[in-house]
Amino acid sequence: MNRDDQKPDGSDLDAMAALSALSWQVAMGADEAIADLPLDRYAATAAKAAQPAQSAPSQKPPLTERIRSTPPPAPASTSAKVIGAEEAIADARQAAAACTTLDDLRAALEKFEGCPLKKTATNLVFGDGNPEAGVMFIGEAPGADEDRQGLPFVGVSGQMLDRMLSFIGLDRSRFYITNMLYWRPPGNRTPTDAEVATCLPFLERHIQLINPKVIVLVGNRSAKSLLQTSQGITKLRGKWDAVSIGSIDPPIPALPTLHPAYLLRNAAQKRFAWRDALILRERLNELGLATSPLDTGSDAD
Ligand code: URA
Repeated sequence: MNRDDQKPDGSDLDAMAALSALSWQVAMGADEAIADLPLDRYAATAAKAAQPAQSAPSQKPPLTERIRSTPPPAPASTSAKVIGAEEAIADARQAAAACTTLDDLRAALEKFEGCPLKKTATNLVFGDGNPEAGVMFIGEAPGADEDRQGLPFVGVSGQMLDRMLSFIGLDRSRFYITNMLYWRPPGNRTPTDAEVATCLPFLERHIQLINPKVIVLVGNRSAKSLLQTSQGITKLRGKWDAVSIGSIDPPIPALPTLHPAYLLRNAAQKRFAWRDALILRERLNELGLATSPLDTGSDAD
């Protein structure tokens, strides 16, 4: 046993147990160090609980008794439904419908308490880029970097998307980008249907306020949800379809494409994403939206 195998209090720590505890924490979404030193919140809570017991011993039963008599908290996934998923969706619809500008919509989301993801997220991730550009990209959900910075697609996969788009002359002054979900799911887990449904009225209003000429659906989840299909992204990608959810009328032309995070894991698929980019470029040209020359830089793949 060496010094690294010891707890801060000097007792031995089994390396495998420490590793599995760490993997469990990462899986639960605690994937970021927020302080230089560990803080034992159990000790802090117990010390706090002990204080009032000393000053007013007759008023509160001992901590152990209180823990025993406290009903267990509802699991996180159902506690969101305590207010009722239906009710949260109705609230979202009402709040979104009242918004007439993007600033209104951002403020409405800042106030909205119906999506449980907000409780675990650091920041609201609303949108980035040029709302007047006529091109709107819609991804799935913010990751850790986006959550930290409050901006969509700023992490590794976002940087890759920007790089690919730069080859067809697009930068964030020439497109607008957002996600289906406005808060990061803990540990980047797949969003639940209830979370998607709760954010959808805001996204619908977001689309109406941006009023894009074309939408690019980035990744499987946003393509399936917004095209209301069970087909997967490998079937959908590269073919023009249209978004017509809710009150979006007339339907808006939409091009599904592969998610950059998927491309980072499957480099061979980049050629399909590049084809999609060229298909997009062609439509933008027809619409008079692409303004800079095609960059055929050799590191496109
Ligand atoms: N993936 C997404 O779908 N959206 C982001 O903002 C970042 C990564």
